[in-house]
Amino acid sequence: MYSLIRRQMAALLEGCPLPLPALSNCAALLWHSLEDINWAGFYLACGDTLVLGPFQGKPACTIIPFQKGVCGAAARTREIQLVPDVHAFPGHIACDGASRSEIVLPLVKENRLLGVMDIDSPLLNRFSQEDAQGLAGLCELLMTEIDWSHGLLGE
Ligand code: SME
Repeated sequence: MYSLIRRQMAALLEGCPLPLPALSNCAALLWHSLEDINWAGFYLACGDTLVLGPFQGKPACTIIPFQKGVCGAAARTREIQLVPDVHAFPGHIACDGASRSEIVLPLVKENRLLGVMDIDSPLLNRFSQEDAQGLAGLCELLMTEIDWSHGLLGE
């Protein structure tokens, strides 16, 4: 399933590698491909905060300091955060009260943190190591194929 998502994302990137359209399409692709999720999207690094980027799901908090939440932990440690029960994660930020588990992956290119991919589920323990691996592959594609050299719209 993740290899299909990756191929679809690669096709969507063809001809337009700008960050904003690419991340928007990626959020939509995740939203329509993964079962039992209630939020899928991106936060983008700005100094030592994360700023809300393209997403699908309910409106979410706009600024997350690196010190806070699951997203902040992924940004700080640059490691995948697989959280089976968000209520057991100290400092978890509840944007949607329905969220029960969450996975956050750091987007790192050439040692620079660009942001994080965040997916929430209303089910406990929704995300497996297989999800982590598949999503890491998708993040790798985003890191290599998106043109990150300018602003979000290439300006
Ligand atoms: N739960 C996240 C905040 C972002 S929302 O899930 C969209 C966190 O604890 O960092």
